[in-house]
Amino acid sequence: MRTIVLATQKGGSGKSTLAMGLAVAAQQAGEIVRLIETDPQGTLSYWQSRRGLAEPFVEPIQQVSDIGRRLDALARGGVTLAVIDTSSGINALTRAAIDQADLCLVPARPCVADIVASAPTVKIIQNSRRRFAFVLNQAPRRGQRASEAANALSQGDRDLADIIAKPLIILRNDHQDALAAGLGVTEFNDGGKSAEEIRLLWQWIEQRLGQSDACHALRAAGAESRSLMANAVAPPPNEASLSWDACL
Ligand SMILES: Nc1ncnc2c1ncn2[C@@H]1O[C@H](COP(=O)(O)OP(=O)(O)O)[C@@H](O)[C@H]1O
Ligand SMILES: [Mg+2]
Repeated sequence: MRTIVLATQKGGSGKSTLAMGLAVAAQQAGEIVRLIETDPQGTLSYWQSRRGLAEPFVEPIQQVSDIGRRLDALARGGVTLAVIDTSSGINALTRAAIDQADLCLVPARPCVADIVASAPTVKIIQNSRRRFAFVLNQAPRRGQRASEAANALSQGDRDLADIIAKPLIILRNDHQDALAAGLGVTEFNDGGKSAEEIRLLWQWIEQRLGQSDACHALRAAGAESRSLMANAVAPPPNEASLSWDACL
């Protein structure tokens, strides 16, 4: 089972929206998915209440000690992908979720204020040596500002391009209407542009997760050298040692 965690302390960035959209897109691509909600605000539980009994199911978790136990049980039960939606701000539950992540996704609007606001979350992710990527979300439909922001992030440090998930997710009503309808955006308007972006984003994530799988395979094969293991499970140096200032 692979675990992805949507985390950033800034509220309204799109953690819950992307968690729902990606969970459904991944399920449609063949994954067996469970959504875990550590945010007492309950956006995902509301979505499930609109959705009825259709999978992927949402499980609220409020105790730090439950997260690891529950993920182990889900893996044993055949779930292949856990998607964890965290609350805004920084708390022990979010830290515990990050500790379990194969990949952390940090949604941010493509503007300096939002990128700066995600710095404390990125520090926590880096300290727990997890892989991560920014998802630039709610980008304006017209104009070049969003792609300029992505370029600005990458400028001067080519490694940064690797930690900006593709594609940009454009601000569109489909995401909001899908939530109200209890649907993933790929169910709500399968042929729409938002659906296409979310499907492409899932493909990007899946590819990135494949790199973590290679590390797990090495671990399972019982690699003897401790240093080899350390290198295999750690994020690549560009993620681990990324200077935050380089993002601005
Ligand atoms: N790409 C998008 N297009 C349109 N609306 C969006 C998009 N992403 C998020 N939203 C809307 O922005 C608001 C905040 O998103 P949400 O996912 O609840 O953020 P968070 O969970 O980070 O607090 C919601 O009303 C949501 O529908
Ligand atoms: Mg939320």
